[in-house]
Amino acid sequence: MSDLFDTIVSLSKQRGFIFQSSEIYGGQAATYDYGPLGVELKRNVKALWWQEMVYGHGDIVGLDAAIMMHPKTWEASGHTEAFNDPLIDDKASNHRYRADELIEDHIRDLRQDGEMEQAEAVYERLVAALNSDDMAGDLYDIIQDEEIRAPRSGAFDWTPVRQFNLMFETHVGPVAETGDRIFLRPETAQGIFVNFHNVREPARQHVPFGIAQIGKAFRNEIVARQFVFRMREFEQMEMQYFVKPGEQLDFFAEWREKRMAWHKRLGVRPSKLRFHEHEQLSHYADAAEDIQYEYPIGWKEVEGIHSRTDYDLKRHQEYSGKNMTYYDPFDQEKYIPYVVETSVGLDRTVLMLLCDAYDEDEADGDERTVLRFHPEVAPIRAAIFPLSKKKGLPDIAHEIEDDLRPHFNVMYDERGSMGKRYRRMDEAGTPFCITVDFETLDDQQVTVRDRDSMEQDRIAIDQLTAYINDHSTGWSRDDV
Ligand code: GAP
Repeated sequence: MSDLFDTIVSLSKQRGFIFQSSEIYGGQAATYDYGPLGVELKRNVKALWWQEMVYGHGDIVGLDAAIMMHPKTWEASGHTEAFNDPLIDDKASNHRYRADELIEDHIRDLRQDGEMEQAEAVYERLVAALNSDDMAGDLYDIIQDEEIRAPRSGAFDWTPVRQFNLMFETHVGPVAETGDRIFLRPETAQGIFVNFHNVREPARQHVPFGIAQIGKAFRNEIVARQFVFRMREFEQMEMQYFVKPGEQLDFFAEWREKRMAWHKRLGVRPSKLRFHEHEQLSHYADAAEDIQYEYPIGWKEVEGIHSRTDYDLKRHQEYSGKNMTYYDPFDQEKYIPYVVETSVGLDRTVLMLLCDAYDEDEADGDERTVLRFHPEVAPIRAAIFPLSKKKGLPDIAHEIEDDLRPHFNVMYDERGSMGKRYRRMDEAGTPFCITVDFETLDDQQVTVRDRDSMEQDRIAIDQLTAYINDHSTGWSRDDV
């Protein structure tokens, strides 16, 4: 992993953004807990997504479906049969890798070395293998022919490629042996499909319309060593937009643009975002693209936008025996709607924001670490400091804190030098630091220090809420 990635992982722990789950017991692999700053960052992202998708669209409504669904759901969706990763083991180190990712890394190395022709040839073989009936065998052949070595040990001693199902299994009922086998949902989407009629009818929606949901998903990721990028328990923010057959590609194009615009509105630098077309379309999709972010570990998917046809509703109709057709009162016809899905990982979004915000510069002759979050995602919007504990300055600072609390998450801090207090807030990504000083006693004004420019404004106390609001919505980065 890159140095920057390691730095972000360790800052996340030190500052209470994200840390390993069950750490005192040695940690639970690929599961993470969010601390006081992390949970605020995550809540802000969720709120902004809901604001955009549900409150921002009269034709999208929300849902909160259960994690444990009827096991037939996963037969219908195809997850029981085909939710697999192609894995290969390095016999020398017993380390396990995803075969397709080993080949992708090899292609990247060839391109970096200027071996463009060979890179393209391997790429074409990879695409063919991913679409082949014998994916495992074909991926293995590429690894052998290209003599791809294990990244850790450098050995060239591989097992065959094998497919592993990623769903977590558990049992309902008192005794494991006799209870029904169920799965923890590997995506939130199926909760939306099975509730198509339950949601549409009371919400009085007509096609085209969407259902949005935020919730946990679980995947038994075998290769999971990339912090919150690849977890076994994670959160998704998904929206399925139901459309008339034949109109799906127009809606796909529209959602693709809208979703990219949302990432930019979170303050992410546009130069670090791009679209990536899928090398392999799922059997049910007629278009699919990812939005990728350039993480310190490379360009990786943060969101998928998929045109899923009528596959899911049709399959649920087949497996449940329930009619999933929709009667279109405008065109007076019956059909099973097609679906355009937008599916973004909440944890990957948080990681993207941390990576994008991380910066180092100089303040008062010292090096400082600063997280340049968009003010609307920053865990703490403003910090309030009394310059001194004398002459009632803390009381005024607490009054300001009480005034701001109904509007923003704010923090009061009177400990340490002003320099130390600023540094702590820079590392937390707090955009505004408000200082009550002795002049405040005479002029009812305070100093507001901007995190990014470190410039200071003198603002009347009764103007603070408006000032923070204006400077939050109008925020932009210089280094786009
Ligand atoms: N319903 C479609 C679906 O689940 P996906 O591409 O498998 O599509 C969607 O997942 C998003 O969920 C991804 O873009 C990613 O952000 C997030 N995601 C998937 N697996 C993840 C994992 N193991 N850890 C963290 N986030 C994950």
